Amino acid sequence: MKHSKIALAVALLGLSSAALADGHVLGRNMASACASCHGTNGHSVGGMDPLAGMPKDEMLRKVRDFRSGAKPATVMQQLSKGYTDEQIEMIANYYAAQK
Ligand code: HEC
Repeated sequence: MKHSKIALAVALLGLSSAALADGHVLGRNMASACASCHGTNGHSVGGMDPLAGMPKDEMLRKVRDFRSGAKPATVMQQLSKGYTDEQIEMIANYYAAQK
């Protein structure tokens, strides 16, 4: 339990620095904030949901559903609120382009 709180705090730190960066930041840089849980470039290990190759529409829909609470989540509901729509689009573009 303690460990997962630390992991979350670290993830949220990465998240706030991504959110502070200006709009020119590449989707790839923002996507690196997801890597701590979803794996490098979205290639997950240990049964975590992979993001690599997820079609853009699907990513946008899932993130919206996390925000609204329509999709049940432990961490993604909170996390998805830390990004603007524009940032999520950049991240979605990046992951959609991964094999
Ligand atoms: C602290 C760990 C953590 C981080 C960081 C994280 N996720 Fe997640 N993600 C999860 C967990 C756990 C789930 C499963 C749903 C839940 O319990 O929240 C999930 C599920 C998802 C799903 C749904 C996958 C599916 O196929 O249903 C998407 C999409 C997603 N995350 C996108 C992202 C994006 C984009 C980022 C970076 C902005 C990110 N996640 C960062 C932990 C994380």
